[in-house]
Amino acid sequence: MLELKHLSKTYRTGDQALTDIGFTVPAGQVVGLIGPSGAGKSTLIRCINRLVEPSRGSVVLGDTELTTLRGRALRKARRRIGMIFQEYALVERLTVMENVLSGRLGYVAGWRSFLRRFNREDIALAFSLLEKVGLAEHYNKRADALSGGQRQRVGIARALEQNPELLLVDEPPPPWTPKPPVRSCA
Ligand SMILES: Nc1ncnc2c1ncn2[C@@H]1O[C@H](COP(=O)(O)OP(=O)(O)OP(=O)(O)O)[C@@H](O)[C@H]1O
Ligand SMILES: [Mg+2]
Repeated sequence: MLELKHLSKTYRTGDQALTDIGFTVPAGQVVGLIGPSGAGKSTLIRCINRLVEPSRGSVVLGDTELTTLRGRALRKARRRIGMIFQEYALVERLTVMENVLSGRLGYVAGWRSFLRRFNREDIALAFSLLEKVGLAEHYNKRADALSGGQRQRVGIARALEQNPELLLVDEPPPPWTPKPPVRSCA
């Protein structure tokens, strides 16, 4: 369950993006947030995983109060929260597969993530997710060689690779038709 209480955000510029927001999302629910451009949707989503620091209020995920966490505890809590960014946020010089696998980085020990080594299960999951979003044959392409929609699909696969308890999606992804899985010719 996710619970927001009295959440407010005023940016340093003086923009009051959120004023006293409160709601509860029970486990298993999908909730859509609708509002005009500039209404504060991205700010709200970013206050949940603390990419933006709320000015006031609290955010509770399960039994964890997220707004007071610091350092290692905050990093640990963020592993439970996946995010699909409005602007994709891929690492340009890495391949599609490496970008998807980076969703696991929170789980691998420092030196392994540095070497970008992942276990078989992580790689198998990444392949199945890339197949799901119709990008299996592009797994080895660099992110900077993809179209906008393809980049967004990599962002979706990366967030799902993380197997998050809570998935935050800023702006719904465009509709896409997953391609049938690639079959090898006998
Ligand atoms: N880093 C920032 N510094 C100052 N003001 C900001 C910052 N980010 C957002 N704002 C302001 O906060 C308000 C809410 O912005 P936000 O990005 O949350 O809107 P949004 O609902 O996501 O809009 P859109 O639909 O265009 O993505 C806007 O007035 C915006 O100008
Ligand atoms: Mg936005």
